[in-house]
Amino acid sequence: MRQRRLVGGAAMLGLVAGAGVVAAPAAAAAPTTVHSTGFETGTDGWFGRGDAAVAVSTDEARTGEASLAVTGRSQNWHGAGLDARPFMPAGQYTIEGWVKLPAGAGSDQVSLSVARTPEGGAASYDSVAYQVAVSDGGWTKLSGSYEFAGGVSQLEPYFESPDATQDFFLDDVTIVGEAAAPQEPGTVAPLATDFEDGLQGWGPRGDALVERTTSDAHSGSASLLATNRLQNWQGPAIDVTRNLAVGQTVQVTVWAKLAPGQGSASLRASIQRDRGTQTNYENIGGASAVVTDAEWTRLRGTYTLGAPIDSAQLYVEGDAGKSFLIDDVTVAPFAETPIQDVPALQDVLGAQGFEHVGVAIDSRETVGRAAQLVTKHYGAITPENDGKPEVVQPTEGTFDFTNLDRLLDFADATGTDVYGHVLAWHSQTPAWFFRDGDRNLTSSPADQAILRARLEAHIKGIADHIDARYPDGDSPIWAWDVVNEVIADGDNANPHDMRDSRWFQVLGEQFVDEAFRLADRYFPEAELFINDYNTEMPEKRADYLDLVRSLIQRDVPIDGVGHQVHVDFARPVEWVGDSLAGVERLSAETGRPLLQAITELDVSDSKENNGADVSNGTVPQHSPAYADDADAAAELGYYWRDLFEVFRDHSDSLESVTVWGISNARSWLRTWPAARPWEQPTPFDDDLQVTPAYWGIVDPSRLPARPADVSPPRIAAKDPVLATSTGVTGAEVTYTPPVTGDTRDGAIVPTCDTQSGALFPIGTTTVTCTATDRAGNVATPGRFDVVVTPPATTTRLYQQINNGPVVRANAKQTVQLVVQFGNRGKGVLLGDTFQYSCTQTAGAPMSLELAPGSARQVGNRDYPAGQNANVTLRGTPTQVGTASFDCTLSMTDALGAPVTATTSVTIDVRK
Ligand code: XIL
Repeated sequence: MRQRRLVGGAAMLGLVAGAGVVAAPAAAAAPTTVHSTGFETGTDGWFGRGDAAVAVSTDEARTGEASLAVTGRSQNWHGAGLDARPFMPAGQYTIEGWVKLPAGAGSDQVSLSVARTPEGGAASYDSVAYQVAVSDGGWTKLSGSYEFAGGVSQLEPYFESPDATQDFFLDDVTIVGEAAAPQEPGTVAPLATDFEDGLQGWGPRGDALVERTTSDAHSGSASLLATNRLQNWQGPAIDVTRNLAVGQTVQVTVWAKLAPGQGSASLRASIQRDRGTQTNYENIGGASAVVTDAEWTRLRGTYTLGAPIDSAQLYVEGDAGKSFLIDDVTVAPFAETPIQDVPALQDVLGAQGFEHVGVAIDSRETVGRAAQLVTKHYGAITPENDGKPEVVQPTEGTFDFTNLDRLLDFADATGTDVYGHVLAWHSQTPAWFFRDGDRNLTSSPADQAILRARLEAHIKGIADHIDARYPDGDSPIWAWDVVNEVIADGDNANPHDMRDSRWFQVLGEQFVDEAFRLADRYFPEAELFINDYNTEMPEKRADYLDLVRSLIQRDVPIDGVGHQVHVDFARPVEWVGDSLAGVERLSAETGRPLLQAITELDVSDSKENNGADVSNGTVPQHSPAYADDADAAAELGYYWRDLFEVFRDHSDSLESVTVWGISNARSWLRTWPAARPWEQPTPFDDDLQVTPAYWGIVDPSRLPARPADVSPPRIAAKDPVLATSTGVTGAEVTYTPPVTGDTRDGAIVPTCDTQSGALFPIGTTTVTCTATDRAGNVATPGRFDVVVTPPATTTRLYQQINNGPVVRANAKQTVQLVVQFGNRGKGVLLGDTFQYSCTQTAGAPMSLELAPGSARQVGNRDYPAGQNANVTLRGTPTQVGTASFDCTLSMTDALGAPVTATTSVTIDVRK
């Protein structure tokens, strides 16, 4: 594993904009060189920081005759600095300079940093190029990109060395960049549209049609009507390029109502941001709701632009086909409440033995208050979406690392570790992976070769990029989700109940092996994880462990087992503990050390238990468990308390805990699969303030009083119980009842309608179980099947009709056929289950029936050696010709298995 880089100075928050003036970014301007010096004619503004002295020297020069000698240093931050404020307005830059050590100094390290103090704020020391190896043998380039937003009272690029007294030469420094638009005093331009005098800049998106209407209004007399919305993303849109700025949080408010007759729909406000050839879509955290045609509903949330843009649009989207009205839309600067001075999660949990305490983010969390929160509380990040196949390789062979690099820049600047997510997954993976032109790949060897090559190209493409970024091997990516969500929820025909994904359909189980082997080849330093949701569900846990055991048996290079832990607060925490213990046991049994990671922790306060299957539809599937959000928050606090108790019990194997989202407003549960405004799934509220969930982790004594218990017990799914009949009536089957647990009461024994040990008939019997907790909450019944099948029969039947296959008969005269038959094996030949019947297969129609009472047993040879019997068949032919029949003798043997014997007979009818 990589050495964790200790980045100098208390505040290394390079990308955080300070409070104060933030300018709207300009449309992409050509980069210009704002500073360039070879120190040929002087020090060009460079000065000695601290005790350091700088002077033009001709002892060394990379180009020309001279360079800058830096001497007299006595602390690591001493060195050569430059006041860049006059020529570096807020924007994006590349800073570079060349360094060489004096002859005889051997090798050492030099860093390039920027000391930056936001107006009215505290200084931070941003890293541009960190501890680059330099020597006396040649010139080494230090360079990196640097970006900042907002007004500053200090902006000082400088070269320093962790070796406090090392002298060095500096030459050929350039600063090239693209300044943000000229700063206006104040803040970003607010937006307010009420449609009273027209569309006020709004227009249609996609096929949608928009018009001003006076048929309804939230205020005044007009609103905007959006119709013809053929897809979710279509609706009204407005340019907000001038209303956003990097690091400036805005509050967005939209009033919405469905058009008459449209029922209800999930609507949300989103931002499209464009930069060069890149387009990103982001929901405005908090701005989603279920909207009806009965009343105006407010969508309100906050949004922080995380990266420079050429342009941005605000739009309102939601369930396709629904026509809706919007009114009184505002975008206005939002003063976020400062981050609280509370214990940092990473300190509290770090002291309890958790190596990595992380959070899922995207670029919005690399700026502003959110970035402060990330760096205070978390020591690791997971790219929430920016490492997924659809983002990294949207079309075959075209890799796009813009978004991922932004997060890596942030990680580098702040000394944060990165958990890579995800190399192979069925979701958020472009369709081209599994197609050959218009054709779906099959499991043919040729198609398998195509998909294998793509898997390798994808993993190698990412690795090449990372290796180029970190030639010294100090990538912040400490782990990867190699495969994600490969186990299905419930039973299927695949080994280990594997998900029937396109990966599985083409490559089978082997795709998992292949992905790990490739990840191991291209990311030899990273810890390689398998990852899934619902791993705490007893049935899925068994399948998951079963697959991991097979991987170990096949010597697949797997290092760890990930548990997403997208749970709800009625899911018993003991189940999570049982899964962690299960992996520990597997590790002990197989002798293979396995790390564990909680990879995507969030806790839903919905009643339902719908997990995190992203392939489910978008229809509303959830409803709030508590009417009062404060009650839900309090109950969540207790759940987080109990969950972390469980985690602590397993801190030896648990290497990492990652929360899925920086705040409740930014949690995916708010919009997935439909608007869920009540959800409070993370330890921080919409305004980044701590919640009871936070105190549940850090100090449960500060939890509010616990509300009434409204959560019923949970009855886990159970695989069918299989049994073999021991007689014709079935079998007595004993079973263990389905695992049943309750968040507040712990384990519960359910009551089932057919008891264990009862006689189950041959066939499938569904057992229904119920459970009630102490508060009287009744579980949704759990059902499982008991399937009783007879054993393979050892009984043989035989028969013969009239000593031969052809029987002579005369038309209009009754013909009698004698069937002699017998049984070798177990069972009574002429018992209750005996049946005999003939079906005509050819010839003129004629009936052939068993003569009533004709069946009788012959001889006295009896069971078990065998029995013989005969019956008489009777028919009256009406036509001349041949008539053919298949005659079947059947019975059930002593253990309930059906046995049959069929013989053909032809009746030749003459005059
Ligand atoms: C989610 C993201 O949070 C959403 O922004 C996105 O729209 C869908 O995916 N399991 C996973 C994550 O492994 O990648 C998913 O993340 C949540 C479920």
